Amino acid sequence: MLARVEDVSKEYQLGDQPVTALHHVNLSIEQGVFMAIAGPSGSGKSTLLNLLGCIDTPTTGTVYLDGEPLSGKSADELARLRGRWIGFIFQTFNLLPVLSAAENVEYPLLQFVDMRGEERRRRVRHYLKLVGLAEFERHRPNQLSGGQRQRVAIARALAVRPKIILADEPTANLDHRTGSRILRLMRRINRSTGATFVFSTHDQRIIDLADRRVDLEDGRVVRLGVRSGHEWVYAAERAAAADRTGSAERAAAADRTGSAERAAG
Ligand SMILES: Nc1ncnc2c1ncn2[C@@H]1O[C@H](COP(=O)(O)OP(=O)(O)O)[C@@H](O)[C@H]1O
Ligand SMILES: [Mg+2]
Repeated sequence: MLARVEDVSKEYQLGDQPVTALHHVNLSIEQGVFMAIAGPSGSGKSTLLNLLGCIDTPTTGTVYLDGEPLSGKSADELARLRGRWIGFIFQTFNLLPVLSAAENVEYPLLQFVDMRGEERRRRVRHYLKLVGLAEFERHRPNQLSGGQRQRVAIARALAVRPKIILADEPTANLDHRTGSRILRLMRRINRSTGATFVFSTHDQRIIDLADRRVDLEDGRVVRLGVRSGHEWVYAAERAAAADRTGSAERAAAADRTGSAERAAG
């Protein structure tokens, strides 16, 4: 299993009010999936992505990446893991404005002190070409359209060859058509390279392209779905069916450890 979220809760303090952003969340992410985390604004999507991305730590519970628990790691260790294992794609692109497209893609590669300049430049060329921007390597972000900027951000995320790519509402700042193109590009890259993508979204189009879905409401996982052809098969429905046979506890436990895992992984 590439990533596991085990009984994770996250509480924020808002003044003297505690806010529970995630409530006993369990989730498994298998290598190579194209997973949508769906839910209305405030449901905990970004919080969950930030925990997976070593940006934040849970209040209780454990996140595992590649079998390794993230709990107990120092801020420095987490930053190091984040840089090597995680690729981020943000809704606001977050490119460095003074750098060209090529330099933006190259930038995170500088953390690999043993990587030679030749290899860095090879990767920059490769990934800019993969996202269709070979001709634009010298352009600065302000000389690129929104869709092109997001493609630079995708190339930058991929160039590190991370274990997992996390995209927090990647189409939120793009028009409908451009957003669709960006999504289809990511799906194509997912299929052709096997890169694992986890998105947050309230955009139905992303869900339509996904092969796994996690539906959040008020910080709780309300459904875990696996695509089967054009249909979604939901773990929660199986658990609910078991529930009706009168074994609520066993169903809940099976949901957490068995069917949920099969569904999400
Ligand atoms: N840094 C924070 N401090 C306080 N509350 C926060 C913080 N981040 C998120 N929250 C709260 O946690 C809940 C989930 O937020 P978030 O994960 O951003 O949801 P989403 O991405 O689905 O819109 C919301 O109620 C939000 O107000
Ligand atoms: Mg969010």
